[in-house]
Amino acid sequence: MEITSAKFVISNSRADMCPEGNLPEYAFIGRSNVGKSSLINMLTNHSKLAMTSSTPGKTLLINHFLINNSWYLVDLPGYGYAQRGKKVMEQIKNIIQHYVLERMQMTCLFVLIDSRLEPQKIDLEFIEWLGENSVPFALVFTKADKQNIVKTQQNVERFLNTLKEQWEELPAYFITSAEKKTGRKEVLDYIDSINKS
Ligand code: GTP
Ligand code: MG
Repeated sequence: MEITSAKFVISNSRADMCPEGNLPEYAFIGRSNVGKSSLINMLTNHSKLAMTSSTPGKTLLINHFLINNSWYLVDLPGYGYAQRGKKVMEQIKNIIQHYVLERMQMTCLFVLIDSRLEPQKIDLEFIEWLGENSVPFALVFTKADKQNIVKTQQNVERFLNTLKEQWEELPAYFITSAEKKTGRKEVLDYIDSINKS
């Protein structure tokens, strides 16, 4: 599948203020700075569609981008960034929880994991919460350009092995680099296959 148009539609803090209608949407979640906004730019071939920053905590709202006039990519705030204080952390947690649990159009949640790190408790707990709430999700291991492929594969394997302790079936997963555009086709084809099903 190719993306022929990508348009920013709206930013807001509440699931019930997201665009109306029944178009399917694919949202990106993960720890602050893991590369959610960069991945959206990479997928859409736009350098500045979603705002990115080297400082964590850049995206603080729910952002909808209309793709090919037929589905949405959704950029979400990151979890686990304590620097902005407890109140902001709580607000962000609320935004994420309401969106993930209430947004019926949300067809698949891509959970981004930093491919350089060993399994992180915060990511594992978030995935467990998705399971408890039957939220459909896939995994994306980001920033693969930052290290050699062997190290990336080791970390991916460790993460999947940890999930296997709790899950009977593993989710779909992708290895990406926003820098090198690795994994672009795979993620877009996956979205396409769900849109067509
Ligand atoms: P928040 O909005 O703060 O939650 O962060 P985010 O998850 O949206 O991360 P963002 O896309 O803003 O990227 C954070 C930093 O990581 C930026 O400096 C990006 O340039 C960098 N980055 C993201 N993806 C990649 C990647 O695949 N490779 C490399 N080398 N850098 C990346
Ligand atoms: Mg962001």
